[in-house]
Amino acid sequence: MKKIAVGFVLGLGLLSGNALAGDVAAGQAKAAVCAACHGADGIAVIPGYPNLKGQNEQYLVTSINAYKNKQRNGGLAAVMQAQAAMLSDADIANLAAYYASLK
Ligand code: HEC
Repeated sequence: MKKIAVGFVLGLGLLSGNALAGDVAAGQAKAAVCAACHGADGIAVIPGYPNLKGQNEQYLVTSINAYKNKQRNGGLAAVMQAQAAMLSDADIANLAAYYASLK
């Protein structure tokens, strides 16, 4: 009985891991629009704009969602709010996986 319980918990962990994991290839395709400001390789082309290359995946998800939900304001946030408004949860997960994968 104990073994079954442990297996169940491990199985759940794997499932939720998959649900969170973004698709790098799909993220790369979606990133074409981001490249105008954040650069083709994730290094920003405009002074003062942030680099995304190699950024922590979870941080990318939470920061993009913060723009989408208008929780990040001030500075240049309005520029990014307009971008984030067009993204689905899956887009955000995929984009985060893509930028986090860049070395
Ligand atoms: C028109 C230019 C522009 C485009 C296009 C754009 N961004 Fe941004 N992005 C910005 C600016 C400017 C900021 C900084 C905003 C601020 O001051 O909060 C930013 C911030 C971010 C941040 C937060 C970075 C950090 O270190 O906190 C992330 C993540 C991000 N953008 C992802 C994306 C993604 C993904 C796309 C494509 C869907 C995208 N951006 C498209 C201009 C842009």
